[in-house]
Order: sequence, then C-alpha cells, then structure tokens
Amino acid sequence: MPVADANYDESNVPNYTLPDPLVLLDGTLVTDAQTWTDRRREEVLGLFYDQVYGEMPGRMEGMHFKVTSEDAESLDGRATRKEVSVYFSEDSSGLKMDVLLYVPNQVSGPAPTFVGLNFHGNHTVRLDPEITLCSGWMRKSDAYGIVDNRATEASRGVSASRWAVERIIERGYALATIYCGDLDPDFDDGFQNGVHPLLYGAGQEMPKANGCGTIGAWAWGLSRAMDYFETDAAIDHNHVAVMGHSRLGKTSLWAGATDERFALVISNDSGCGGAALSRRRFGETVKRINTNFPHWFCGNFKQYHDREDDLPVDQHMLISLIAPRPVYVASAEKDLWADPKGEFLGAKHADPVYRLLGTDGLDVETMPGIHEPVTSRIGYHIRAGGHDVTDYDWERYLDFADDHFGA
Ligand code: GCU
Repeated sequence: MPVADANYDESNVPNYTLPDPLVLLDGTLVTDAQTWTDRRREEVLGLFYDQVYGEMPGRMEGMHFKVTSEDAESLDGRATRKEVSVYFSEDSSGLKMDVLLYVPNQVSGPAPTFVGLNFHGNHTVRLDPEITLCSGWMRKSDAYGIVDNRATEASRGVSASRWAVERIIERGYALATIYCGDLDPDFDDGFQNGVHPLLYGAGQEMPKANGCGTIGAWAWGLSRAMDYFETDAAIDHNHVAVMGHSRLGKTSLWAGATDERFALVISNDSGCGGAALSRRRFGETVKRINTNFPHWFCGNFKQYHDREDDLPVDQHMLISLIAPRPVYVASAEKDLWADPKGEFLGAKHADPVYRLLGTDGLDVETMPGIHEPVTSRIGYHIRAGGHDVTDYDWERYLDFADDHFGA
C-alpha cells in the first residue's frame, strides 16, 4: 500500500544528475574493463561501504556447520529436505543461523540453487510440520500467528505463496532459505543483539559511523550460507542465485555486490536503498527510510536526508557492482512506495558498465509495459498487482536462471 504523504507524482520528481559509474573520483573516464575492475569498482564499493550500508567483516574463525535434519522423501520423494545450523564461532551454544534446504532428487550431481532470506522463519515457506519452528524474535503479526513476538504452530506455511518450492524443485533447482532475524532481529535495539556484537573490536559497543547496519548483517549471513554451500556436494556453488524481496531485496543486491561468488542476483520490489534511484525522491525517500528503520543502513547514510544530490553514489552504481554477472530487477505496478520507474532506471543506468565489460546490458530504451519481461544480461519486469512475490515473479526468475546458467 502506498504510504500517504509521499510524492507519487512524476511531474514532482526533481531534475537530477546521476553520478557516472564510469568516471573515477579524480575525473578520469573509465574506458576499459581493466580500469573498471582494478580501480573504479573498488572506489564505488568503498563508497557504498562507507556511506550507505557500512563495512562488513569476513567469515569468523571457528565457524562450523551441523546438519540437524534430513529427509530424502520430501515433496512425495521429489526433493531432499535438509536443515543445517551454521555456527559463527567454535562455540556450538553461540549464535547461529539455520538454513533450510530443498534439493531436487531428479538432478544427478550438484544442483543450481536459489538462496534467499525470509521474513518470518523457515517454517513459513512451506506447510510442512517437519520444518523446525523458528524460536527467535519476530515482528508482531496476528495474520501470521505470531504471539508475543514468537512464532506458533499457526505460523507454519504462512509465506508459502511467496516461495514456489514445488516449481523450483520441478525445474531442477535447489532452494535454500534462512530467517533474517537469525542474523539480526529487525528492530532498532542499538545493535546489541544479532551478529553485531560479534563484529565489534575490544571495548566497542556500537557500530562506527561506517559500521554495518542490519542490511549489512543480513547480507553477511548470505555470504556465510555461501561458505556452507561450498562444502555441500548437493549444491552447485558456482551457480547460486541470491534472491530477496523488499528489505531483503535491498539485501540480495548488497550481497551480490559484495560477494562475487553469487553468480546471479535478483531484486524483487526492493525500492529505496535497493534498485530504485534515491535522487528521484518518488515514494520512499532516504529520510523516510532512515527515520522508520534507523538500523538498516550505516550512520553515515543519515547525512543525506533531503540531500540526495550530495550522495556520491546512487543505486544504479550498486547494480553496476554486480556486473558482468546477470542481475534481475522486478517491480509491481501498484507498489508505488518502491518506485517502479526508479527501479527500472536503477537497472538501466547500470547498462554502460555491463557493456564496457563485454556483455549486453538492459536491452530496452524505455520502461516496458506490464508483463513484458526483458531478459538481457540485466533482466527487468513489472507485473500487475502490489508489493509481493508471486508465481509470476518466480517463473521469470527460473527462466532467467535457465538462460544464464544454461540449464
Ligand atoms: C517498508 C519499507 C520498505 C521495505 C518494505 C518491506 O515498506 O519502507 O523500504 O522495502 O517495508 O521490506 O516490505
């Protein structure tokens, strides 16, 4: 639902000039792939670390994995369902995240995989009593059976419409999902819970002004899932697509930008701080997002309230960081808060970087109509309906992965 009191009028979008992804900070034009890779990409990544999402540490010493359940006869024998705990240190009573995996049984050898965080626990993605009920803190929701910020049996399968598990398996892909709150519960607690305390130096109690916020912590967790995939023979870790919706779509883009092991990246309705250009100030703005969700980005991002033009980056440069890997940006017609046109333009303005690197980019000049997917190296569609993930979206992502993974 569009939030009132925001700009939804195209004629009120201010004139703006985007920073050029292909000009170095010293003004030099980037005209060859080498200069992009060696210099400009590093610069742009550094700006996003410093000014937008905050810096991210690598994996921790002592990190280890434990398979906690396995059923080779899931989905009437079509898939193997597995749960894996990823412990972030040697301490098996310390912080961990739980990965739920469905792997197609018909695929011989490692399966290409979609990985994405979920909003309300792994038990919500499919109505399956065998999935461990997540015990972590959750945002309140009567509709999702969440009582006193905890999931209940009534929460099982409540997000199933957003996860096309059967279709993913049928088309020969594995699916891995993790509850985002395992990494950092989605509320502003001054970064005392979740992985943040593990990232602090001696005597430190808060992230620095350029320290990672919650989106950074979520993306960090996706990289730790990738660390696990590299050890699991059932997963083709060279063909992992990272997918996310909304705040978790901002996260999938940031994970794809920071971790080049993700071979394909999907942003579903990611909006402000995701694929949408901040300078358009259409729907959600930098000020609104930082006010409503002070924990998502790094402290420095708060300098840009009503000062979008002073940002040294815009979101097309986030997408550029994924180049030349395939990236898909999806919008929904009624999801004006996320600025569909701004999402399209975020993708479109990354095009020159893809072309410099020798692939095609986003192969249309103007925004396509409803249900007219574009499937070049940068993919894009806008579908009918509102802010959600639907079967239509998943079919496009599966087609896109087929095209680029050569299935
Ligand atoms: C809010 C927020 C968006 C976010 C969305 C979601 O609407 O303002 O930035 O994408 O929640 O995650 O569903």
